[in-house]
Amino acid sequence: MPRRRALLLLLLAMSSSSPTPASARPAFACAAGGASSSLPFCRRSLPARSRARDLVSRLTRAEKVRLLVNNAAGVPRLGVGGYEWWSEALHGVSDTGPGVRFGGEFPGATAFPQVIGTAASLNASLWDLIGRAVSDEARAMYNGGRAGLTFWSPNVNIFRDPRWGRGQETPGEDPTISSRYAVSYVHGLQQQQPTTTNLKLAACCKHFTAYDLDSWGPTDRYHFNAIVTRQDLEDTFNVPFRACVTHGRAAAVMCSYNQVNGVPTCADETFLRGTVRSRWGLDGYIVSDCDSVDVFFNDQHYTSTPEDAVAATMRAGLDLDCGPFLAVYGESAVAKRKIADADVDAALVNTVAVQMRLGMFDGEPAAGPYGHLGPRHVCTPANQELALDAARQSVVLLKNEPPRGKHRAAGVLPLRPAAHRVVAVVGPHGDATVAMVGNYAGKPCRYTTPAQGVARYAARVVRQAGCADVACAGSQQPIAAAVDAARNADATVVLAGLDQKVEAEGLDRSGLMLPGRQAELISAVAMAARGPVVLVLMSGGPIDISFAKNDPRIGAILWAGYPGQAGGQAIADVIFGHHNPGGKLPVTWYPQDYLQKVPMTNMAMRANPATGYPGRTDRFYTGPTIYPFGHGLSYTKFTHSLAHAPASLTVQLAAGKASSSSSPATFLNATAATTVRVAHARCEGMRVPVHVDVRNVGERDGAHAVLVFHTAPPLAGGEVGSGGAPARQLVAFEKVHVAAGGVVRVEMGVDVCDGMSVADRAGVRRIHVGEHRLVIGELTHSVTIGVEQVEMEVLAKAPIWQSSGKNVLSVLHVDISLFNVAAYAYLHPWKTASTTERYQLGFLLSALGCNMSNLLVFTPVMVEMMMKRYKMEKELGIGNEVGYPKNMDVVKRNPNLAAMNRKFRMVHGVSSLASLISFSSLAMHSWYLSSKLNF
Ligand SMILES: *[C@@H]1O[C@H](CO)[C@@H](O)[C@H](O)[C@H]1NC(C)=O
Ligand SMILES: *[C@@H]1O[C@H](CO)[C@@H](O)[C@H](O)[C@H]1NC(C)=O
Repeated sequence: MPRRRALLLLLLAMSSSSPTPASARPAFACAAGGASSSLPFCRRSLPARSRARDLVSRLTRAEKVRLLVNNAAGVPRLGVGGYEWWSEALHGVSDTGPGVRFGGEFPGATAFPQVIGTAASLNASLWDLIGRAVSDEARAMYNGGRAGLTFWSPNVNIFRDPRWGRGQETPGEDPTISSRYAVSYVHGLQQQQPTTTNLKLAACCKHFTAYDLDSWGPTDRYHFNAIVTRQDLEDTFNVPFRACVTHGRAAAVMCSYNQVNGVPTCADETFLRGTVRSRWGLDGYIVSDCDSVDVFFNDQHYTSTPEDAVAATMRAGLDLDCGPFLAVYGESAVAKRKIADADVDAALVNTVAVQMRLGMFDGEPAAGPYGHLGPRHVCTPANQELALDAARQSVVLLKNEPPRGKHRAAGVLPLRPAAHRVVAVVGPHGDATVAMVGNYAGKPCRYTTPAQGVARYAARVVRQAGCADVACAGSQQPIAAAVDAARNADATVVLAGLDQKVEAEGLDRSGLMLPGRQAELISAVAMAARGPVVLVLMSGGPIDISFAKNDPRIGAILWAGYPGQAGGQAIADVIFGHHNPGGKLPVTWYPQDYLQKVPMTNMAMRANPATGYPGRTDRFYTGPTIYPFGHGLSYTKFTHSLAHAPASLTVQLAAGKASSSSSPATFLNATAATTVRVAHARCEGMRVPVHVDVRNVGERDGAHAVLVFHTAPPLAGGEVGSGGAPARQLVAFEKVHVAAGGVVRVEMGVDVCDGMSVADRAGVRRIHVGEHRLVIGELTHSVTIGVEQVEMEVLAKAPIWQSSGKNVLSVLHVDISLFNVAAYAYLHPWKTASTTERYQLGFLLSALGCNMSNLLVFTPVMVEMMMKRYKMEKELGIGNEVGYPKNMDVVKRNPNLAAMNRKFRMVHGVSSLASLISFSSLAMHSWYLSSKLNF
């Protein structure tokens, strides 16, 4: 979301000239017969990036910098219109950004439940289907000139702290759910086919990274420096982003406002170029959160001049500025040689190529594959039905106890229309409309309020608000009237909770209790009610409702998130048993006093017993909860039995990789191997199949989410304090429908490298050797993971980088085995005819263990150089994978590494010390260097 500052006003004159208002839309770029239609950038047969390069090459510097911002100017002489990059579609097409404008033939769009609720469904096909419905509506609006094609959704930040006002936008606290959500929703939105790069829409995963604080005391997101460990980044904060880019193939990533470890994320080369583009291989663009660049210049004073800010962000890898900063200072940054024209070109190729993939340079869109979509494809009955279905699936049944005094009876829910004819609907959300769609919403097609929903079942609804609004503050609240209504009704439904005045963007909560006198209202109503009392909560974040949980007069509690346009009907459908609830909490519901122990500014996920810090989320927090992560009841009962899962599994090593123990000091001690680096394992296809039979032993059909939790074996010697593996973590889940009395087999698989590995303190993922535990409901299953035995002698007593020549020597006693030779050959097929002889000589020397050459070459100076290089590679987030093209890419662009390569004439150029000390690499180095020395 934007911060509008003085700078923006300066720019107004500039901005207002573009983009062209949709109502007066000019011919589309590359329209047949247009000025440019014969130029290469209009040629659809060329790859998107070539077309983008061609277009960019035709622009002046002044034209280029005006394309670096969300409000991109047109280039009329080339027939290119202006374009507003900023559209939003978090849970339906939304006018939160300027790219979407409702009105005319497009008065509204289907408003699906807020994401936190949809996440609770744990139904990945639902997430995909919602994305697909949104993509139809968005394309239709684009065709009508009322939306862009680049949507800055979804928000996949981890919901780390229960107070976060934007937690509602996210899929919750769990990296596995968030990842699957990201992949499914992006797939739905983009509709990218496996074999093409064409996009229906371009999605954007935001806000990278470790952004989940808006305002806490004096700290706000524009000034916050999040101190984050490599471990937490690797196994928590970055997980959904990685999935979004690598599996979801999202066309964009947005960097956030905050700093991480002292560097604004939008100026962090390690993050943007290193992690997102090189390691994960983003094919698309990186955009700033709105005014992020301005924020790190003006608020964080990260650079001393605006041109340095431009350079910092563009060198880091930013391609597009949401905000005017790059347009204002881009030209002067080039003039002052802070950046080169080539830097601007590279950024524009990344953005324009996405426009090419969207078909924006293919002429009139009516002729394109989505040209048929128009007003009649928005708010269709099918899409509205999907919104209703999504809302039903979002509902989480937290409590359902028998009526007082009837312990053996079923829960009070579902209500029966025949028995519960007069229903009192009380509480501030009884007539909720706008509150139901949460933030980042659009204009819904229509609303069904909770009172209207209940009226579809009850003979008579008596509506009494009880609280004038959600704040429910002051002595004037109409509580007594609500109590009266409950006293006289056959059943009472209380609609309570939060809204955007309590939790929102820019607004974190200070506590977890219900606002004002809501709790008082609920208790008073429960005390007086003649019939059963059902409490329905609307909120994004968790609420401490222990008073209601423990009140026997309150028979049932539902959590409905912010259920979207059809929320009222969905809630009633659940209350009256038309839909059997199957949602599960995607966040831990903490008690209020949890907050005493966790400053919102403390980013640590792991508990720290030494300081009394309890840790965060289901994976690390083991203290008391109001309701735990994953909690959710049904009107029926399910049991699990294990149909198939292996008891053991052997991890194969990739060629040339030694297993290692967890501590660097014994890195070379293969005999003590307790872990295997994921980077060293053959991950492909390595999955633990988990097949579970789910039996519905109750009397109603229902849907059930099977959750598979994993616990890794502790390391020998123990990980102490805050450094450990998660207490447990969700590694797989699947939703199934099971008819009453029926049984359904659910076939899941747990990816060993992704799911069963643990990030060590350095952020390196390792698979622990030993007995892993999988817990599925009431089942526990053990899988013993071993490592393939490799014939290799390990001699090192200490790592070679411990400075002295003595250590270096000890390493050189390596008896180079056939294994190493094979690894060497694999990494370096000798192919250059002119040097064949030298290669073969070197090969022989190392293969025969000619340690003389090693002695000559591996001087302490050389080792020091290798260390430097290793450090640099690590900072760039590369080096764990030897010789992979991604690493090559980074090396090519990094002048220091390139210089080092030249200086030491290293052929492969991307060896890290880590790989060097694996013996195959050692052999390789000695071989190569000896050949250079003409030994
Ligand atoms: C290597 O591991 C074995 C088995 O744990 C242990 O006995 C030995 O001392 C270790 N060697 C070194 C050099 O750490
Ligand atoms: C998942 O959602 C889709 C779309 O609403 C629905 O058709 C399907 O039945 C759901 N799956 C389960 C197991 O509930």
